[in-house]
Amino acid sequence: MMAQLQFKSKIVWSILLLGVLITTIRFISHNQAFNFSLGRIRSYFAYQQSWDMGSLSQEETAHLQDILSQPFHYLNAGTRSYVFESEDKKYVIKFFISRRHPVGLKNIFHYEKKEKRWQKVMKMCNAYALAYQEMKEDTGLIYLHLNQTSHLNKTIKLVDKLHRVHFVDLDHTEFVIQERVETLLDRMRRLQKNHDIEGINYSLSQIMKLMEKRYQKGLRDQEKLSPSNFGFIGQRAVQIGLGGLQKGQNDQDVLEMRAKIDEWFDRQRS
Ligand SMILES: Nc1ncnc2c1ncn2[C@@H]1O[C@H](COP(=O)(O)OP(=O)(O)O)[C@@H](O)[C@H]1O
Ligand SMILES: [Mg+2]
Repeated sequence: MMAQLQFKSKIVWSILLLGVLITTIRFISHNQAFNFSLGRIRSYFAYQQSWDMGSLSQEETAHLQDILSQPFHYLNAGTRSYVFESEDKKYVIKFFISRRHPVGLKNIFHYEKKEKRWQKVMKMCNAYALAYQEMKEDTGLIYLHLNQTSHLNKTIKLVDKLHRVHFVDLDHTEFVIQERVETLLDRMRRLQKNHDIEGINYSLSQIMKLMEKRYQKGLRDQEKLSPSNFGFIGQRAVQIGLGGLQKGQNDQDVLEMRAKIDEWFDRQRS
């Protein structure tokens, strides 16, 4: 009887431990922040004319050199990008995630997944190229490096979320340089804390203007509207997450944003 009980409790403990182990592996493998590696941000695409943004002026080149002379520290990760901020906190460098997390049951059929992921990265490159050409000033974009090059001759130092240091050869990596913004959510939290209703109203009206401008330019976001894709440079609203941008008009975007913004106002008033 005693032996039977001990056997049962051993089974219960084993199941519990297995559960904890699977949950931990799932957590770590799905948490982009813990899984940064250089291998996950390189795609080795062939040259694409539409991703070539032309050469920079002398002044722009000097500005870029200045930005890239700093180390970058982990800031955040989306589902498709790693974002690092410059030491002076004025800029971010963004890398597209070209491989899924290394540990995970879904990766048993890794080859197929890799192809699919690369298609997504291609779509991101197309979207960022479109944003750069059509709405550069409304996205804070400074520089796009989507094709491999040999003229940058630059290796930058990255410090990831786990404080590990990586050196990235920029000529052979796709990356985006963008102004660092105050994200929409951070701004709302700050203004709310200061009971700055006027500031909130103004900021939200700027976001609405941005949405309308995007609509007028014949651009839409294929993705679900998310406040995490918007931010502010000073008083200017910009769209920072651009992976879903494409040509086409969708006034639903504007209406949806209006509804979300009304929600914000209502929450403020209550
Ligand atoms: N220019 C930026 N300034 C400040 N934070 C940024 C900037 N770009 C991205 N981020 C942060 O990183 C997150 C993910 O970036 P995003 O470009 O939206 O990647 P994804 O396409 O993977 O969602 C954003 O929600 C934001 O918190
Ligand atoms: Mg995003």
